[in-house]
Amino acid sequence: MIRVLFNKKGGVGKSSLTVNLAAIAASKGLKTLILDLDTQCNASRYLQQENASKEDSIFELFDQTITFHIRKKPAIEYCQPTQYDNLFIIPGSPNLADIESELDSRHKIYKLREALQKLSKEFDRIFIDTPPALNFYSLSALIGADTVLIPIDCDDFAIQGLLSLHHQIAEITEDHNEDLTIEGIIANQYMTNAKLPGKIIDDLLEQGYPVIPQYIAQSVKMRESHQVQKPLVHYAPKHKLTQSVVAVFDAIEAQ
Ligand SMILES: Nc1ncnc2c1ncn2[C@@H]1O[C@H](COP(=O)(O)OP(=O)(O)OP(=O)(O)O)[C@@H](O)[C@H]1O
Ligand SMILES: [Mg+2]
Repeated sequence: MIRVLFNKKGGVGKSSLTVNLAAIAASKGLKTLILDLDTQCNASRYLQQENASKEDSIFELFDQTITFHIRKKPAIEYCQPTQYDNLFIIPGSPNLADIESELDSRHKIYKLREALQKLSKEFDRIFIDTPPALNFYSLSALIGADTVLIPIDCDDFAIQGLLSLHHQIAEITEDHNEDLTIEGIIANQYMTNAKLPGKIIDDLLEQGYPVIPQYIAQSVKMRESHQVQKPLVHYAPKHKLTQSVVAVFDAIEAQ
């Protein structure tokens, strides 16, 4: 099962949720892989994997499709163990930006899907973190994934952004990946006391969007867990925030 977390809007929780959902999956005994496709490398940093060499990162996995390598490294050899049982990562790389236009012009858009098909035989769950833009890398991920999870931050522009995103995902489904489904909209940084988030979710539900019924509150624990570079399920397993992310995981798994 390959899930991509995507939203063109920045700062909505893509990296936070990629890492935390994956860490929860791994803690439940599922062999889990994270792919970090964002040049910011926030998911990698969260798991203390921000200093991977180019050769060990997602950079080379793509680069070897456009540069001659005597031995092409199979995708599985890029998967690094983390300090947690069952949790692996292909670390991100700031250098991805340098090869994006060449990958694009040489039509390498299906290469990640090929790699993912092989990796999905080795891992029970794969979670992909993406940059806040529909670029070569996020498009590659959407083409290679089974489902997309869309985190939103419940603010005023969330609905507008979602409409345009929905349109683009529908086009990708039609042109490249007919099996891709929108598995769920994840309401993140939800403030129970404010009126707007509730109204936004009601509007989305009314329009037929599959909003996951468990909402994730805004909590300083999330920032703390980034700071100490430990996923919530290990940093604060009993905290309400952690429990809400576990509830989201259970909800998507039950579908
Ligand atoms: N539920 C939450 N409560 C409090 N802070 C949160 C929550 N979720 C995310 N954050 C914080 O918001 C910021 C953005 O989160 P994150 O990096 O996961 O978003 P993103 O969508 O990956 O951003 P980008 O588009 O830049 O990649 C981070 O500082 C993170 O700690
Ligand atoms: Mg991010």
